[in-house]
Amino acid sequence: MSNNLSKIAVLASGKGSNLDAILTAIKKGVCPVDVRLVLSDLADAGALRIARDAHIPHVLHLDPKTYENRACFDAACADAIESAGCHWVVLAGYMRILSNAFVARFPQRIVNIHPSLLPAFVGGDGVGDALRYGVKITGCTVHLVNEVLDCGPILAQKTVAIHDDDDRYSLLQRMHEAEHQLYPQILADLVQKTLVFNGRTVKITG
Ligand code: GAR
Repeated sequence: MSNNLSKIAVLASGKGSNLDAILTAIKKGVCPVDVRLVLSDLADAGALRIARDAHIPHVLHLDPKTYENRACFDAACADAIESAGCHWVVLAGYMRILSNAFVARFPQRIVNIHPSLLPAFVGGDGVGDALRYGVKITGCTVHLVNEVLDCGPILAQKTVAIHDDDDRYSLLQRMHEAEHQLYPQILADLVQKTLVFNGRTVKITG
């Protein structure tokens, strides 16, 4: 398929519900992007199955263990993204820390969704950390990726209330509902509107 839509690469390590939400939004005509590549570091990631079922042109598993070091692995990922002609790199449950060299290859073009209201609860278990801390409100954050983990400029956030009887499973369910609304919506804005920066504050305008 050749079109004028913004071409994106989705990187995912998990079951792929955010990828699925993006693909559903594309089908509904509310997210004008073209997913050219889905890449995972895990062979059994559900995201790869979803991508194959959706006939994404490039579906790729790269195994970090077969590369000499993180820099080599990240370089191979970046090469694949560029070869597929992708303009945006969309992290959707990608659980590896990106090297500075990778980030530098796609300046202000990498976007991530994180399951907490950043800057609270950075890292690999935003949902569990919020539950253990005992906060009453958490949520998800869509942000640009810079060299510091979960610290890039924030594009949008959506709150999720924590109930007294919540466990990890019930909170995760509502977190995913929030993520699945927010991520496709912000991707649509990103590819159609303009980002205006003021220090680390960013507005999506137009
Ligand atoms: C999502 O909740 C996402 O916010 C989280 O992984 C999950 C992936 O779910 N990402 C991180 O924790 C990144 N630090 P999915 O595979 O069903 O889209």
